[in-house]
Amino acid sequence: MTPNPNSVRFVLDGAIIEAGGEHHGSTVLDYLREQLQRSGTKEGCAEGDCGACVVLLGELDGAGATINYRPVNSCLQLLPTLHGKSVKTVESLQRGNGDLHPVQQALAASHGTQCGFCTPGIVMSLTGLLQTVAQPTRNQINDALSGNLCRCTGYRPIVEAAQKAAAAPAGQLKLDDSADLPLLRQLRRESAQPAVLHSAEGQDFFTPTTLAALADYLSRHPDATLLAGSTEIGLQVNKQFARPGRIVYLGGVSELRQIEDQGTLWRIGAQVSLTDVQNLVADVYPDFAEVLRRFGSPPIRSTATLAGNIANGSPIGDSMPCLLALGASLQLRRGDSTRTLALEDFYTGQKKNALQSGEFITAIDLPKPGPGEVFRAHKVSKRFDQDISATCCALRYQLVDGKFTRVRLAYNGLAPSPCRAPRLEAVINGRTPEAVSAAELDQAIAASFTARDGLRASWAYRSLLARNLVLRFIEEAVGSVPEVTP
Ligand SMILES: Cc1cc2nc3c(=O)[nH]c(=O)nc-3n(C[C@H](O)[C@H](O)[C@H](O)COP(=O)(O)OP(=O)(O)OC[C@H]3O[C@@H](n4cnc5c(N)ncnc54)[C@H](O)[C@@H]3O)c2cc1C
Ligand code: FES
Ligand code: FES
Repeated sequence: MTPNPNSVRFVLDGAIIEAGGEHHGSTVLDYLREQLQRSGTKEGCAEGDCGACVVLLGELDGAGATINYRPVNSCLQLLPTLHGKSVKTVESLQRGNGDLHPVQQALAASHGTQCGFCTPGIVMSLTGLLQTVAQPTRNQINDALSGNLCRCTGYRPIVEAAQKAAAAPAGQLKLDDSADLPLLRQLRRESAQPAVLHSAEGQDFFTPTTLAALADYLSRHPDATLLAGSTEIGLQVNKQFARPGRIVYLGGVSELRQIEDQGTLWRIGAQVSLTDVQNLVADVYPDFAEVLRRFGSPPIRSTATLAGNIANGSPIGDSMPCLLALGASLQLRRGDSTRTLALEDFYTGQKKNALQSGEFITAIDLPKPGPGEVFRAHKVSKRFDQDISATCCALRYQLVDGKFTRVRLAYNGLAPSPCRAPRLEAVINGRTPEAVSAAELDQAIAASFTARDGLRASWAYRSLLARNLVLRFIEEAVGSVPEVTP
């Protein structure tokens, strides 16, 4: 059968599903439940917080040999992003002989479910974890479940069930995708051409496969909505009933999905997920990795991008303080023109930035640490997991002759956009750790920012955090940080 060019084609349990272009604004969750009757996947919050909608998204690896899975919040993902991929729902787990998956069996045996509304999402998050981690630690299990809320059971029996399930033979834990593999290869062959889905005049969903095609489309349609990980756009669709006319999805451009090692820096493509960034920085910038570990939850981080966080420009965006302190810059493109812009020059006001009409971020340049360079960061929020910052503070420095040099300090939550704090940097630069005083930091904070109470924290609390996080980083530097010989 010749594929309909105006359709989304994806694999579900050994069959190719073809969804007409008229569904281009539908979420994956709505399509699964309403068109495919996969009602095991639930809608709780429709905003990425509860995890009742978690499904596993499968993608062929580069060689086309295996399928890699990641958990996603199906309530936030738009259906056309499934094109060329596979999806596994809770219904996919039942074996031909009727047996349940070991995760399901263990949840039932450990009394890890009561009303059951959260259970399919929990099953999918844990099944996803067990595809990549054979013997997860308790912390890894807790982290995998940080985006799944259960109102009835309590997490102890759920975590115990996960530990019990992990002891099952690997063959039983692995998803059976033998029938999906050839179909995904077929879709890869078919998807060589750029796909534009139309539902009506001016209602397009475009998935370019090259940077040039993306840049050209945006030059012709500068009003188009760029879609990356969909964790902001999905919210706008569900909660503000946004219905973008033209959407251009970055997920088909392979250059944007690469991390390039350029010697002194990494060039992180605009479509690289936060999960991959977290893995990249885990050894060199462990505090950055920890901030990212507390960014949303695994299903959020598996699609959300740095570029989306930066472009969205929330005053409490979490990646930006780290990137600002580390001296990151942005690669921008408009038509055939490219330019580099320091992240600290990107914001021009609250949720306003220096992007010109039709211009977009292609990559983020993240410097590698120089000799003796220290990076510290910490996010403070009401809940440890899956919560938004009251403030996140990031500090980079070197100690030369016992004195701080090359200090860069940045925050979110204190100003209309995440920003550096030059007056505070001046208090620290050239001083020994012992010589930095709380009073001087307080004065610099008062002189730098406009006192504003927010919904998430009062100004009194935020300004105290801004000072105390710096003092903590400085105190921890004494005796533990190697000095650089001038
Ligand atoms: C449940 C939940 C938890 C969250 N937790 C956190 C958190 O802990 N910390 C935090 O900071 N944020 C959090 N967020 C917000 C969100 O996840 C981040 O802002 C994320 O990084 C957005 O990236 P994305 O790829 O999903 O962006 P998208 O939703 O795809 O796009 C966001 C915006 O960026 C634009 N855009 C995307 N890519 C580009 C590009 N290459 N060039 C120019 N513009 C572009 C889009 O047009 C859109 O305006 C959370 C969101 C949810 C739903
Ligand atoms: S429905 Fe709650 S996270 Fe999707
Ligand atoms: S069992 Fe009821 S919400 Fe988890």
